[in-house]
Amino acid sequence: MCKKFVWFLHSDLVDDHRMVRYSIAMMKSPNRLVVGALCGVLIACARNQNPTPVPGPATSRSAVDKSIDSLIALMTLDEKLGQLSQFSGFAAVTGPGAIEANMDDIRKGRVGSFLNVTGVAEVRRLQKAAVEETRLHIPLLFGLDVIHGARTVFPIPLAEASSWNPAAVQEAARIAALEATAFGVNWTFAPMVDISRDPRWGRITEGSGEDPLLGSVMAVARVRGFQGTDLRNPTSLAATAKHFAAYGGAEAGRDYNVVDVSESRMRELYLPPFRAAACAGAATFMASFNEVSGVPAHANRWLLTDILRREWGFDGMVVSDWTGIQELIPHGVAKDSADAAKLGVTAGVDMEMVSRNYAHAIPELLKKGVVQMSTVDEAVRRILRTKYRLGLFADPYRGLDSTRVTNDVLMPSSREAARKIGQQSIVLLRNERSILPLSKNLRSIAVIGALAADSGATIGSWGGMGRHTEAVSVLDGIKRAVSSRTRIAYEKVGDPVGNDSSRFKAATAAARNADAIILVLGEPAGMTGEAASRSSIDLPGVQIELARRIKALGKPIIVVLMNGRPLTIPWLAENADALVESWFLGIEMGNAVADVLFGDVNPSGKLPSTFPRNGGQIPIYYNFRRTGRPPSDKDHYTSKYMDVPWTPQYPFGFGLSYTTFSYSAPRLTSATMSPTDSIGIEFTVTNTGTRPGEEVVQLYVGDEVASLTRPVMELRRFRRIALRPGQSGVIRFDLNANDLAFYDARMRRIAEPGFFRVFVGGNSRDAKEARFELATPNGAPVEVREPCGPTVRYDR
Ligand code: NOJ
Repeated sequence: MCKKFVWFLHSDLVDDHRMVRYSIAMMKSPNRLVVGALCGVLIACARNQNPTPVPGPATSRSAVDKSIDSLIALMTLDEKLGQLSQFSGFAAVTGPGAIEANMDDIRKGRVGSFLNVTGVAEVRRLQKAAVEETRLHIPLLFGLDVIHGARTVFPIPLAEASSWNPAAVQEAARIAALEATAFGVNWTFAPMVDISRDPRWGRITEGSGEDPLLGSVMAVARVRGFQGTDLRNPTSLAATAKHFAAYGGAEAGRDYNVVDVSESRMRELYLPPFRAAACAGAATFMASFNEVSGVPAHANRWLLTDILRREWGFDGMVVSDWTGIQELIPHGVAKDSADAAKLGVTAGVDMEMVSRNYAHAIPELLKKGVVQMSTVDEAVRRILRTKYRLGLFADPYRGLDSTRVTNDVLMPSSREAARKIGQQSIVLLRNERSILPLSKNLRSIAVIGALAADSGATIGSWGGMGRHTEAVSVLDGIKRAVSSRTRIAYEKVGDPVGNDSSRFKAATAAARNADAIILVLGEPAGMTGEAASRSSIDLPGVQIELARRIKALGKPIIVVLMNGRPLTIPWLAENADALVESWFLGIEMGNAVADVLFGDVNPSGKLPSTFPRNGGQIPIYYNFRRTGRPPSDKDHYTSKYMDVPWTPQYPFGFGLSYTTFSYSAPRLTSATMSPTDSIGIEFTVTNTGTRPGEEVVQLYVGDEVASLTRPVMELRRFRRIALRPGQSGVIRFDLNANDLAFYDARMRRIAEPGFFRVFVGGNSRDAKEARFELATPNGAPVEVREPCGPTVRYDR
């Protein structure tokens, strides 16, 4: 009836036929007047609502909440538990143990949401059953993992983070939302904002690397892109900040493994991107599979209620991860399904994905008084609020227009955007004697390696609706780029993970006769992503052996890496003449790589994640805390290794260009700063090479002496700038007490007086520094409230 009421209220849709149907429905409904009135209020509110949901503790109950509450008052327990239930689609599954809903479940109001259902016709069929055949006509949410694109697959998130270009990342997410909604989806399980310092963890591919500020900026960009300026817009997707929280801290990099972190590490490392996502208006959160210091996230009231709801004022919904409630049993904190349901719902998980503990166990828990009805109602309220914010009460069929798949999907401009961000995501790690870029007029080029021709691998993990037939492989990109006189000799060699070296001879022969040799090495896409952790992050198979053989010819080798995580590549770092980190760049990968190889684009990406020299160094990251025995080559008894330098292969923020940039020392606007002031840091960057180029300038801060040990440096600002050869740019960043603050032993966020070092440069290692003092009244620490949203803003 609600749906019919919608039609009724939409004057442009009112016709006699619908009025008659509406009247009949009204007469049939036992609650006809109440439901009609409520639908009316929800719809009226939906029409006048504030476009962007503003997080923050509600001061008074809004009209929307009041009408949602009136709707809740009409719901049976079965219907309430239905709202709390998410079922997987009839075909696709992304984990074990999916139980399918049937049409009867929908009609009885036992389904609140589906995941993995796509296609306008299918979504419309299920939505129709929900809004026209259930007692209360509540629309369904349709969720999907749209992680880095729907059909136009963009670079994996780790690669996008290498662009340090939030505006481009936002655009990629916007296009993903446009396309996903054309397939009927209205909710994405993204952005994944987990910080990780462990490249063994396969899911590092889905995040933005190791830094909380870069991660926060990327989180904001993706939320803005997915949700647009108005969540009700039929091209907007509700975003999900996941996995809450500290999933990236899995011990030994083994997926789903335990995480033991201090509260300050939680607040300074893992939580900032989540808070940034909440501040940007992310509609939903997803709990993480891991435990945090003994309490599984799905049962973690401290995280889900105390921090997320009370401290941050988040009033959207929290969904479990796939069977995450059920998994409280193997975690060993719940003895049975009832225990699991109690822990989950009272901690603050509103919707249960796939497993059925809420639906089965909550009735008994209520009877026993173990769970209160108010807890269930609160979960229902948050879910209905999300549906309302998406505009589903006003138009449950929003965006379900079958022509959109033709008009909005895989548009040339979307492919162009994918190519552009792909170009910016490529990180040039080495370029001896400026061997790159190559001429497009060479007589012959040998392209070697199975990944070169693997268009499917370009898509990486979470391919959305991407099709490998629509993706451009590196080989094809190279072929398209070169002149007609250039002969490309391709030698596949063999599976990148296998041990077959029988084609090495053929590969060597091809290389011997070529003017340039491009080796495409790396990991197949399936080696990264969920449940794809590796104990060794060396190049798999016999690829290094292959590279050695080719190098033995005495000719320069250009290595293009395709991978979803930092790898340990010491031999390549010494012996490849050029080393191009191209990650998995999505369906425009081949074109983007060729643009860089042949110099149409000057590479400008920077690493969002440290590259270790070997696996034993993990975790290795730039913002490490100081020890009492800092590493020193002169002193044996210091923090280092016997067998390998303590430094990384490539530091955070690193990336070369075909030109070079020089940095002046930072100039400060004053030597001292007060907590109510800011200090200006100015420096000059000059393009000292012969090509135009873009540089990601970075500013880091380090606290010299504090009441707790502090990281040696932390990223505080960055910006992309374009400079012509010989051109200089003066950069100015202003810092204030917020940039110096940290959580002290009592978890107060304070800035302590004393000296700070400020570093500016093109990466976290090669930076120029200066020093200033924070002087506070009476030399006492000052409390600094954490601002809502990251300190790096960007225009879009
Ligand atoms: C499990 C993954 O951890 C999560 O990221 C994903 O959104 C769900 N499966 C649904 O596919």
